[in-house]
Amino acid sequence: MRWAALCAALVLTAQAACARPIAALSPGARLALQGADGVVPCAVCHGARGQGRPHFAYPHLAGLGAPYVLDTLRAFADGRRLNGIMTPIARRLSAQAMRSVALYYAQFRPRPPHWPGSLSLSRLGRGRRYYQYGALSDHLIACARCHGRRGHGQGARFPWIAGQSRAYLIEQLRSFQAGARTGHALGLMRHAARPLSRHQIADIALYVRLLGARPPLALRPHAWVRSARPIVPRGFMPPPRAAIPATVFGRAARRGRAIFDDTPRYARAYVGNALSCRDCHLGEGRAPHAGPLWAAAALYPRVYRGRVTTLAQRIRDAFAHSEAGRAPPLASPVLTDLLAYIHWMSRGEVIGAPAPGRGYPSLAPLHGPPDSAQGAVLYHSRCAVCHGERGAGRRYNGRLVFPPVLGAASYGRTASLAQEPLLAAFLKATMPYGEAGTLSRREAYDLAAYLDAAPQGR
Ligand code: HEC
Ligand code: HEC
Ligand code: HEC
Ligand code: HEC
Repeated sequence: MRWAALCAALVLTAQAACARPIAALSPGARLALQGADGVVPCAVCHGARGQGRPHFAYPHLAGLGAPYVLDTLRAFADGRRLNGIMTPIARRLSAQAMRSVALYYAQFRPRPPHWPGSLSLSRLGRGRRYYQYGALSDHLIACARCHGRRGHGQGARFPWIAGQSRAYLIEQLRSFQAGARTGHALGLMRHAARPLSRHQIADIALYVRLLGARPPLALRPHAWVRSARPIVPRGFMPPPRAAIPATVFGRAARRGRAIFDDTPRYARAYVGNALSCRDCHLGEGRAPHAGPLWAAAALYPRVYRGRVTTLAQRIRDAFAHSEAGRAPPLASPVLTDLLAYIHWMSRGEVIGAPAPGRGYPSLAPLHGPPDSAQGAVLYHSRCAVCHGERGAGRRYNGRLVFPPVLGAASYGRTASLAQEPLLAAFLKATMPYGEAGTLSRREAYDLAAYLDAAPQGR
């Protein structure tokens, strides 16, 4: 294509770049804006600044980051991800060309879309709830855990999705669900997308499209959040976290929830590591079969380690051992607030009745000893993506997003989780995060043996 003709074709997206002298363009910019032998310029579909073309469901590349774009181009080229348009393009690019175009697009950030004139507020509210908090009753993990609260992605693995077009989001979610897009070797997205219904996909796509867009003044603050219909639970479910009332008791429960979610921050005096209660009691302490606290509330006082123990004492124990810190005094606000949160989520539970879903489903012992060397191999292939090669967890923008599993920042030897059978049960029931249930019993024991004996220690 002639340069002048191309610039004319790109006027909407590439004006600034076309004004620049051609010689000044980097190789990546040249490929993006001018194309190469047999390769249409990327800008035709993805925009000169990587803004994409939402109308055609062409994704934005801005914000995705060079490592993700590079890996995705390789995936198109080697068949890990197939697409009628992108696969032939990627197959024509040299490794060097892929690298330079990935770097070119990495310098831009996506522009937030405009708020649409009309939309369904309850759909948006539901989308927000699924995205930010997931839905326990539907085994749906919060997208925010991996893509970030604002949808800006985290590190090289978890891409920026805020602002992508609805059509593109829906297409990708369906294709993960159907197994057509396999994506990351761990299949994280296939598992995250599997439980979604058609309606949930549409709700989430609307919300993610508008994440970061400015709602009109009349809609603030978050009028649409309140308009969402509640999600109807299957079986016993604690109330949704947003339902804590604005009473004196409710304020204590909210503080308790904050302590539960970020214990090192809100209960600093009593914590000696980097773990929060929620890291081992999943779904903010509400998920069945993952250490739910509503089930504990109806059970205590009970005999624990040979003594009649109250819930308050059990929590003090958790601080001393799981949190590698010291027990808060019985009258401390930290303890009171945590008890208020647990009590609030347990309303409707019958005291003394069996609570299906309590604890972590126990795991039958193995015949013969577990193999910690095999556990190490598994750890590096299935866990390190989130917990880090050395088990130190991962931080993004200074926030600990994936907790440490080894070393001094994790739980100590005296923690309940350090007991091998319990750790194996925990792993089988909850990990890898987002793909719970995919480890075999032997794999869970091998991993537990590795974590308990790893050179980084506890
Ligand atoms: C004719 C239009 C077109 C052209 C030209 C084009 N792309 Fe694409 N691109 C697409 C479409 C459509 C998709 C979505 C593919 C899918 O659904 O899997 C896509 C997806 C991508 C993705 C994945 C984005 C994500 O969020 O996962 C990357 C990266 C990408 N393209 C890079 C490029 C680069 C670099 C070029 C130039 C060398 C280029 N594309 C040229 C249409 C195009
Ligand atoms: C356990 C972590 C995890 C969770 C939870 C998760 N994702 Fe993802 N997501 C990923 C990873 C990793 C990728 C990169 C693609 C891959 O699998 O290779 C991805 C990719 C995507 C993509 C494709 C992005 C692109 O540019 O093509 C979309 C869309 C997406 N996720 C949406 C969601 C939504 C919506 C949810 C919530 C229902 C969600 N994700 C939950 C890890 C996660
Ligand atoms: C390192 C992981 C970990 C952390 C962090 C942790 N716990 Fe636990 N907690 C466990 C395990 C494992 C059990 C199950 C013990 C058992 O079944 O014997 C447990 C049990 C409990 C119980 C009793 C539940 C029952 O059903 O009997 C309570 C209450 C509790 N934890 C509260 C907390 C609180 C509050 C925090 C934060 C201050 C916390 N835990 C932090 C791992 C952890
Ligand atoms: C997609 C990311 C991801 C993967 C993969 C993953 N985890 Fe986790 N893991 C998490 C998150 C997130 C938590 C905290 C749960 C929460 O806060 O809801 C966690 C918690 C834990 C905990 C308890 C808290 C702690 O830090 O000690 C252990 C132990 C653990 N994971 C081990 C593993 C093992 C072993 C694997 C591999 C089989 C694995 N995880 C795979 C994300 C992941």
